[in-house]
Parts: sequence; structure tokens; C-alpha cells
Amino acid sequence: MKTILDFSRARREDRPIVMVTAYDALMARIVAVSEADAILVGDSVAMVMHGFSSTVEATLPMMELHTASVRRGAPDTLIVADMPFGTFRQGKHVATEAASRLMQAGANAIKLEGVSGHEDVITHLVEGGIPVMGHLGLTPQSVHQLGGYRVQGRSEEAADKIQTDAHRLESLGAFATVLECVPADVASSITTRLTIPTIGIGAGSGTSGQILVLTDLLGLDDRFLPKFARRYLDGHGDILAALNRYAEDVRTPRFPTDAEVLA
Ligand code: KIV
Repeated sequence: MKTILDFSRARREDRPIVMVTAYDALMARIVAVSEADAILVGDSVAMVMHGFSSTVEATLPMMELHTASVRRGAPDTLIVADMPFGTFRQGKHVATEAASRLMQAGANAIKLEGVSGHEDVITHLVEGGIPVMGHLGLTPQSVHQLGGYRVQGRSEEAADKIQTDAHRLESLGAFATVLECVPADVASSITTRLTIPTIGIGAGSGTSGQILVLTDLLGLDDRFLPKFARRYLDGHGDILAALNRYAEDVRTPRFPTDAEVLA
């Protein structure tokens, strides 16, 4: 996918959209030649790459740095960058400044969490030529307000609120929305009633596409795997085994051999 118009086309043609996060040029280069459609430079970078305990710690300079790195690795891939905590809650001026910096770092679009209270910001960004992806359901930047990483939309009232927010996002001009950790029937019903695509994570198979955090998909963190994620590789195990083989080869010594010595 090259532009957000490809998102709309995929939705119209009922073709599932495949998204994955990436945070650096090396991984982005692999994603770019894969069958995945688009990359999210998620604020999950704060947890995954920087070891923080939540995404609240992601800052604008952090997001700019990673967005620029991903763009260097994936020059032709559609990249969405997350607006970090606080940047879209301080009015249009601050939000536009933050979004512009992410676009200048290489993003094609930005993603922001929630809709209530920043409708004006979404409209302003869209009218200013900055494509906006929404993010509803479990919005990790609100983890302290939500009291933890919990499924959202279980009650009828909560499901209705997510549905209403999704329609608001659509009417404000968002080109797509992430639905995170909502019951599959709720996500599916929202998807059917929207014209913009929904990208699910922990939201069942009835969304217009899926997104996974790259390190979950690659099994790089052995401490944690959300129930909804699937490991396609035992990255942690394979890397550990490679490191141990290397250590053993140095100590044996089997490395380096004469063939690996520079003349
Ligand atoms: O930051 C992130 O990785 C995300 C995805 C989980 C959707 O927002």
C-alpha cells in the first residue's frame, strides 16, 4: 500500500489489511519486502524498545527518531506514526506542531487515541492535509484511567460508546480506526456499520484488517504474550541459542577459524 486511498479501496473490495508495528530501519527493511500492507510506528516503542512500563512515556522526540529510522528502512511503505501522550490534548496548535514533526520525520499519517474532547483537533489535522487514523477500545495511553489493560466494550453501554465514537471519527474525516481489545461481536458490528476500515488487535476476525506488535509476532519477548497475539517465530529462543553457540565457539575455540582471519 502506498497511500490512504489504498485503505479505502481494500475496505470497498473486502480485502483484509495487514499492518504490523516497526521501530527501526533494520526491521522496517524486512517488513517493506514482506506481504504486509503498512507499518505503524506505535508508541508501544516506549515499552518494547525502551523498557518503559507504559506508552505514556513515549515522547515526541522518541517518536520522531523512530519514525525517521523506519522511513529510511522502508522508503516506499505506508507509515502511520502514533501521536504521543499529551500531544493532542493541548489544543490545535500543539497537535498540529506534533503531527507536522511526525510527517516531516517520514510518516504518511498519524494515529491518535480516543475522540471525545479532541474532535476539533482531528478536524483541524484532516483539513490541514494530515491523514488521521483513530484508535478506540483499549487505548493504552489511558491505562491509568482504565485501571489496567482490560477488554473494553463488554457492557451494552460501553459497546454503544465505542460504536458512537467510531461514527464520530468517520464523520470527522479519519481514514481508518484501530479497534483494540473489544469483544469480537462488537468489533464486527462496528465494522459493518462504518465505511472506513477498522484495524483490529484483540478484536476478533470481523474487522477490516489486523495489526500485531512486531516483537510479539516474532516471539522476541519470552516474558509476555497477549492472548490475542500469535507467535510466528521463537525469536527469543533462536537468538539465545545463536548467542550460546557463539560463546561456545569462542571458548572451544572454534571461532574464528583461519578462513575468518583477515590477511
Ligand atoms: O502502539 C502500538 O503498537 C499500537 C498498536 C497496538 C495498535 O497502538
